[in-house]
Amino acid sequence: MIEARPPEGYLLSQTPKPGGGKIQFKMAFTFWKTATILGLFSLVHALTQSTGIPSPPKPEPIDVIELPLPPVTANESTGGCTYAVNPNGTGCISASWITSSFQSGNFLPDGKHVTASLVFSGAPAAPDPRSIYSGLQVIIVKADGTFFPNSDPFKCITCGIPAENRFNLTASTDYEYPQAFTDGTRILAGPYIISCGIHQLASTACTPEQVYIYPIRWNVNVDGSGAGGTMRELRKHPDDVHISFNAISYSGSTIAQYAYFARLHFIHSPTTGIPLTPRYDLVNVTQFLDSSGPSLFSANGTNLTMNTQAIAVGEARGLSGLGNQLDYIGFCWESCNIDITSVNLQTGEVTRVTSDPEYVDPVDTTSDGEWTVIMDTTTENRMMFLAGMRGIPPLVDLLITGAVSSVRNNGVRRFFQPWIVDRYGARYYNNDTCYYQGQQVNAAGNGSDGSINDPNWNGGADPRWSLDGTKIAYFQMLVTEPNYGGSNPLPCPNSTAQGGRTYRLMLATLPSRTPLNWTTPSPVSDVIPWGQPYVPGSALATSSTSLMGNYTLTGKVQGYADVAFIGADATSTTLRTVAVTYHNYSDDGHNFIIGNEQVTATYPNLTLTHVDWYSDLHATGIYGNSTKVTSSDGFHFEIDTQTNKFYANGTLTTTVNGVVYEQPINGG
Ligand SMILES: *[C@@H]1O[C@H](CO)[C@@H](O)[C@H](O)[C@H]1NC(C)=O
Ligand SMILES: *[C@@H]1O[C@H](CO)[C@@H](O)[C@H](O)[C@H]1NC(C)=O
Ligand SMILES: *[C@@H]1O[C@H](CO)[C@@H](O)[C@H](O)[C@H]1NC(C)=O
Ligand SMILES: *[C@@H]1O[C@H](CO)[C@@H](O)[C@H](O)[C@H]1NC(C)=O
Ligand SMILES: *[C@@H]1O[C@H](CO)[C@@H](O)[C@H](O)[C@H]1NC(C)=O
Ligand SMILES: *[C@@H]1O[C@H](CO)[C@@H](O)[C@H](O)[C@H]1NC(C)=O
Ligand SMILES: *[C@@H]1O[C@H](CO)[C@@H](O)[C@H](O)[C@H]1NC(C)=O
Ligand SMILES: *[C@@H]1O[C@H](CO)[C@@H](O)[C@H](O)[C@H]1NC(C)=O
Ligand SMILES: *[C@@H]1O[C@H](CO)[C@@H](O)[C@H](O)[C@H]1NC(C)=O
Ligand SMILES: *[C@@H]1O[C@H](CO)[C@@H](O)[C@H](O)[C@H]1NC(C)=O
Ligand SMILES: *[C@@H]1O[C@H](CO)[C@@H](O)[C@H](O)[C@H]1NC(C)=O
Ligand SMILES: *[C@@H]1O[C@H](CO)[C@@H](O)[C@H](O)[C@H]1NC(C)=O
Repeated sequence: MIEARPPEGYLLSQTPKPGGGKIQFKMAFTFWKTATILGLFSLVHALTQSTGIPSPPKPEPIDVIELPLPPVTANESTGGCTYAVNPNGTGCISASWITSSFQSGNFLPDGKHVTASLVFSGAPAAPDPRSIYSGLQVIIVKADGTFFPNSDPFKCITCGIPAENRFNLTASTDYEYPQAFTDGTRILAGPYIISCGIHQLASTACTPEQVYIYPIRWNVNVDGSGAGGTMRELRKHPDDVHISFNAISYSGSTIAQYAYFARLHFIHSPTTGIPLTPRYDLVNVTQFLDSSGPSLFSANGTNLTMNTQAIAVGEARGLSGLGNQLDYIGFCWESCNIDITSVNLQTGEVTRVTSDPEYVDPVDTTSDGEWTVIMDTTTENRMMFLAGMRGIPPLVDLLITGAVSSVRNNGVRRFFQPWIVDRYGARYYNNDTCYYQGQQVNAAGNGSDGSINDPNWNGGADPRWSLDGTKIAYFQMLVTEPNYGGSNPLPCPNSTAQGGRTYRLMLATLPSRTPLNWTTPSPVSDVIPWGQPYVPGSALATSSTSLMGNYTLTGKVQGYADVAFIGADATSTTLRTVAVTYHNYSDDGHNFIIGNEQVTATYPNLTLTHVDWYSDLHATGIYGNSTKVTSSDGFHFEIDTQTNKFYANGTLTTTVNGVVYEQPINGG
């Protein structure tokens, strides 16, 4: 998720979309985590019947093991990686995740190797042959229990490649999200493509001399000059030809993020731009921005309308699965509930992918489009104090999506665990007597230190399916000081992993599944009809008309809400406060909300948000009752999107059917 406040794309516009409103049923009809079931025949059930949404899948067996990594050296100084630590002389790593920057990626197409990036530590100096196992590198790890010919279970792909194979470019500082292409010869990592030419990366023919590292360049100047734009979170399309990426834009006192789609175009001898080396240029770049489409909120007179077919891409999260859609984080469908939304690249149809109240952003979809694996905070109930009351329209969220999303972490500590969910998403079934939320991948285990479900081991981005859909790779980090929650120093657990490593690479196997017959899809169109073609040097396209004043939002099923969008002063066009009074408001026919909520946000600096929040909301519904209430002096919280440390005075408490969800402790 963007470590920043919501981009201007979240703001308001009054432009209606001609012929808009293609609503696919796959959305908000999932409710309480801890439901009191009243056994009523419900709208959910009626819709489930009439739209042919199947009953959820039964839990399936999932076996989880840890995969091997290079050995940890306690001595990270030059030469600390001795033959005593690694007898094979193939490198050592740090025990600390912070030092190693470890990230696992996807599988090679054979499903037998997993890509990863990490920092090697303690290498002896050149000319020792072990000197190549140094710094940030991309490796592949055996996922089938076998070994490479040198007996190692891992192979460094980028170690020791000749300087000319990287065109004398200095060592990379970014190999994030390593993603092997389906041809088995290339890996996208950070803004680079690592290629072994005609050779399979896992083959003995793929020696360091065969490996080339090509930079990816996004031209942002009219004359094609310069180093190109800064990209983050690059994700490969299944067609091996396109990518999505995000770029941060700083303008005055705001920081915003925009997302793009582009074709990779290899150019051997470029004549403009830096670097003048063989490289992949991004061509046919499209901004994921629907400037003529509806906004989430629009007004006609004093009537406010919410249109969930609005395409509001806050951060692109990937193009996996069948490759026909972009997964992204955008507006919240329900207040404070941050989910994955997808948009069809051709039709612009918007679909809610996840709906549980907890936070999700890492996502990967199987090659047949039927299953997603997500990282989600649900096992910790981290976000329930914010999002546990269901069915609140995302009004205050116009101010605080960035701040709310930042609560998901405590410093570098994530609260993620991996879950699989079928493509119909979380839902009630059996006349609403049961709730399907998906299946936790690593639920088996006794929770003891180092077990696969030890809650102190938390997931990172991205979990990945093998192309045949029978395996999932993911990684986890052990909580370390000062992020255990509470006053420091804390009795953080000691790692049980090799060498006291605080990160681990995990492999889940789903033995009851039949391997999918995947093929690399034909390249999709370069053109996204609803997108905004990117012209190098052009001003950033934004859609950012703010609504100010007082409106009425009518519930889609019943009731209404008085909504006030208030600026810093009477003439201000910058939204500062949202005040809402709900009158038996219901969008879904399940939750009926009464009460008031008022939220003011200020931004002391680019990354810090200060929120003053007053809520007294009460909901009744067929799944039970809930309240979302601040203390009498209000709830005042502050969070920096770069550091993810929560600090508050006062309280915000959500109670769902008697279960009380409280905010984290300050600094926790
Ligand atoms: C080194 O090789 C041995 C076999 O000779 C193998 O068992 C071991 O896993 C390798 N060591 C490391 C650290 O990979
Ligand atoms: C890399 O550096 C070497 C030695 O300075 C030089 O001969 C070579 O042309 C350079 N290669 C590139 C692609 O710049
Ligand atoms: C895509 O980019 C290529 C190379 O810049 C260009 O020749 C082609 O016209 C572009 N296609 C479209 C549809 O813009
Ligand atoms: C706004 O409301 C008026 C009166 O109901 C209606 O005639 C008009 O078409 C509406 N405008 C839009 C853009 O929906
Ligand atoms: C606003 O909504 C009210 C109630 O539905 C309706 O009577 C009125 O005509 C609407 N006004 C506009 C401008 O659409
Ligand atoms: C938990 O499982 C591990 C092995 O996975 C075992 O060593 C340990 O004894 C078990 N602990 C308890 C409390 O059952
Ligand atoms: C971790 O190990 C250290 C050193 O052995 C020990 O002092 C400490 O008590 C251990 N911490 C926990 C939580 O077990
Ligand atoms: C995959 O293809 C093989 C060989 O054509 C076939 O036997 C198998 O049933 C197919 N599996 C699936 C899941 O379609
Ligand atoms: C708009 O709503 C706010 C908050 O409810 C209220 O204080 C204010 O009086 C309203 N303004 C008008 C012009 O109705
Ligand atoms: C914003 O303010 C916070 C709190 O004073 C500080 O920790 C942080 O470094 C500041 N960030 C920036 C970008 O200035
Ligand atoms: C929910 O609240 C309503 C109204 O306050 C009450 O009648 C009902 O019994 C409550 N339902 C549950 C399940 O507590
Ligand atoms: C909490 O109150 C203290 C004392 O008034 C103040 O210094 C601090 O900034 C407040 N923190 C927040 C997050 O409002």
